[in-house]
Amino acid sequence: MALKLCISTAANYIVKYLRAQLVPKIYSNNLYKIWRQNDLTPTYSTGNAKSKSEKKLVSFKESKRFIYDCFVASDVPKDHAKAMAGILASCDYRGIMSHGMNRLEMYMKEIKSGNTDPCAKPKILSETSAVAWVDGRHGLGVVVAEFCMDLAIKKAKKIGVGWVSAKNSNHYVVPALYCLRAMKQGLIGITMTNTSPLMAPKGAKHAILGTNPLSIGAPGCDDQFLFDVATTQVALGKLELAKRKGSTIPEGWALDKEGKPTTDVNKALEANNLLPLGGLEFGYKGYGLGAAVDVLSGVLSGATYSTMVGGRGKPKNLGQLFVVIDPCFFAPDFQQRLTHFNCLLRNCEVADPKNPILVPGDIEIKRLKQVEKAGGIEYTDNQLKTCENLANKLKVKPLQFE
Ligand SMILES: NC(=O)c1ccc[n+]([C@@H]2O[C@H](COP(=O)([O-])OP(=O)(O)OC[C@H]3O[C@@H](n4cnc5c(N)ncnc54)[C@H](O)[C@@H]3O)[C@@H](O)[C@H]2O)c1
Repeated sequence: MALKLCISTAANYIVKYLRAQLVPKIYSNNLYKIWRQNDLTPTYSTGNAKSKSEKKLVSFKESKRFIYDCFVASDVPKDHAKAMAGILASCDYRGIMSHGMNRLEMYMKEIKSGNTDPCAKPKILSETSAVAWVDGRHGLGVVVAEFCMDLAIKKAKKIGVGWVSAKNSNHYVVPALYCLRAMKQGLIGITMTNTSPLMAPKGAKHAILGTNPLSIGAPGCDDQFLFDVATTQVALGKLELAKRKGSTIPEGWALDKEGKPTTDVNKALEANNLLPLGGLEFGYKGYGLGAAVDVLSGVLSGATYSTMVGGRGKPKNLGQLFVVIDPCFFAPDFQQRLTHFNCLLRNCEVADPKNPILVPGDIEIKRLKQVEKAGGIEYTDNQLKTCENLANKLKVKPLQFE
């Protein structure tokens, strides 16, 4: 009997050891690393097609410095300016050029108009061990989001889950960066926000929902799953970027004022009518998803929702949701299985080996590596001109190049 018990305890120990030590090594050392070494993700250009000597590259540190200086010169408290600079520069560093430096002027205008209070600190209105309701007090969206995500992380670490709902917030840039905060601590992060109306579902004459993005991120062993999208075909920032580059937009992104599909970015921006995910035919899916985001962010938090949300340049009371889950409270070995899951996706048979299957989040890592390899971020000429004007206006040190 005692011998049986000993053998069973030893077997259990060996299984646990294999799970904890070997399984992640097998996944991360073999499949994932082979995939990374082969660098199978598609190439991506972060700016204009120029020869190496023509390129003006800006380091991540310098991008952060410039954004920080601009905010401080606009009377934003240093800790809030640091948070804004960290998030905006990270977007460009990860290749999400639509939401980094491109948006700097927009935040400046929101502060100058008094729509955003750069000094406001979020306040907890009520809380239990699992949930919290937060008033963003019309502060910077990034400041509200970091506060709420950290609060959700704290709760999840104690009891397995943290659910934080915020009202009176502002534009919080891209949701994935808040999920990353949770993922760095081995936790699953989920966040979503409502935004100004920009999307009309099939049959509607006017926009009734925003681009309402959401992100879900989970950590693996030396790997991750990080999904982050608007619930429209594309984010508005991609149209702004096309305008900066002077290029057209693909058909299927947006409608013109007459409600017809357009490839003219100016007509699309004038109409402010983006197609929901799924496009003209299956847009009811993106419409449903965008509406669900609004229910969980705007309606739940007591913020504005749907057409109540103010447009650009108007005061906002955005609603946002931050959820953190500690996988340790569920089945063991979450990170190992997540890595295995990703490997199954990446290693599936494909028609063209040059176009392998990516896992959400892969492309941002690829772009980040490209920026590092190139020696800096490449901004469009139009963006550099905007930065030059901002530097003159705010009397801050101009952007320095590598
Ligand atoms: N704060 C706001 O108000 C707001 C509003 C809208 C969008 N946004 C943000 O703008 C950014 C761009 O939005 P978008 O909808 O244009 O996103 P997108 O179409 O660029 O898709 C990005 C997502 O898809 C993944 N992805 C890309 N190619 C892939 C592939 N081949 N296989 C698997 N996954 C792939 C990426 O890893 C990422 O998770 C997002 O970060 C979004 O959250 C912010």
